[in-house]
Amino acid sequence: MTRYARIIGTGGYLPEDIRTNDDISQTVDTSDSWIFERTGIKSRRIAKPHETASSMAEAAARQAIEAAQINPEDIDIIIVATGTPDRVYPSTGCLLQKRLGIKNCVAFDVQAACSGAIFALSIADQYIKSGAAQKILVVGSELCSRITDWTDRSTCILFGDGAGAVLLEATDTPGILSTHIHSDGEYEDMLYCPNPQVATIDNAGEAGFIQMRGNEVFKVAVNTLGQIVDQTLKANNLQKSDVDWLVPHQANIRIIAATAKKLKMSMEQVIITLEGQGNTSSASVLLAFNEGVRDGRIQRGQIILLEAFGAGFTWGSALIRY
Ligand code: UT7
Repeated sequence: MTRYARIIGTGGYLPEDIRTNDDISQTVDTSDSWIFERTGIKSRRIAKPHETASSMAEAAARQAIEAAQINPEDIDIIIVATGTPDRVYPSTGCLLQKRLGIKNCVAFDVQAACSGAIFALSIADQYIKSGAAQKILVVGSELCSRITDWTDRSTCILFGDGAGAVLLEATDTPGILSTHIHSDGEYEDMLYCPNPQVATIDNAGEAGFIQMRGNEVFKVAVNTLGQIVDQTLKANNLQKSDVDWLVPHQANIRIIAATAKKLKMSMEQVIITLEGQGNTSSASVLLAFNEGVRDGRIQRGQIILLEAFGAGFTWGSALIRY
């Protein structure tokens, strides 16, 4: 009997405070129209000072657990994707485990920048398919606002805070059909965030803010996501027309539109959260998936393509029969 990882609950959390494009244009030389036309973003959520990746992860995870109607004690593994952990260690996964009051599970973090949720789903899928785990909680949680230089107009217009979660359970009906993850460290300097506390000669003196050569990243992202679409469909022997929903990483509406075009999908078949959330890095795909499920667009039995691209570079996809 084939084992599959099936999504049995989803959740999301967005901080209350909203920062609009107009707010940003008060402090840097930009405008609402430039930002919206080039990115598709109108506003983003900003966490309050007391909020952390683990506190936001808890809110999203509790929703997913409630939707799945399971006892948290039955969770075997917690995987948190984040590039903005509360602490260097313990992992945000362990902090989330404590917050949820779960004693007997394994918890750890995955760091794959904006592709983190896809990497975490891929790891979870392997554990479930192999029979090593029955129930896995996957969370993406990011405080991008704290690693954003709010005086740098080339990056501060893009990012936002939030957390998304899914609960996976082993079943004999699909499920995650396949995951595909990739990395190429050759491009490490096109998009990175220094860690000043462990500075080397190379990055001594750099503040801990996101650095990006946006236009170059954009071109590689479009190209690479086109390839991952082909790889995913081929691996499952499916046609473009078999995909019901595209749930992309929310970096830029023009990147999303290029992927939709590659799939010959209309934008009506794409879950887009970018306008009110910006790029929430590893939280974005799970937040979008949660939104599509909760507002009834994503239905049981449909085929959903999740994809992401981020620093590393890292990129990946997950094809799911929901
Ligand atoms: O999630 C991880 C992956 N990240 C991404 O996928 C991000 C990918 N990159 C992008 O989304 C886009 O490259 C940006 C939105 C960051 C920038 O858009 P772009 O169309 O690539 O613009 P650009 O960097 O080529 O800049 C075009 C012009 C420049 O002016 P000149 O040299 O033509 O005079 C910039 O200085 O726009 C200027 N510019 C701005 N103008 C107003 C750059 N940022 C701004 C701004 N407001 N915020």
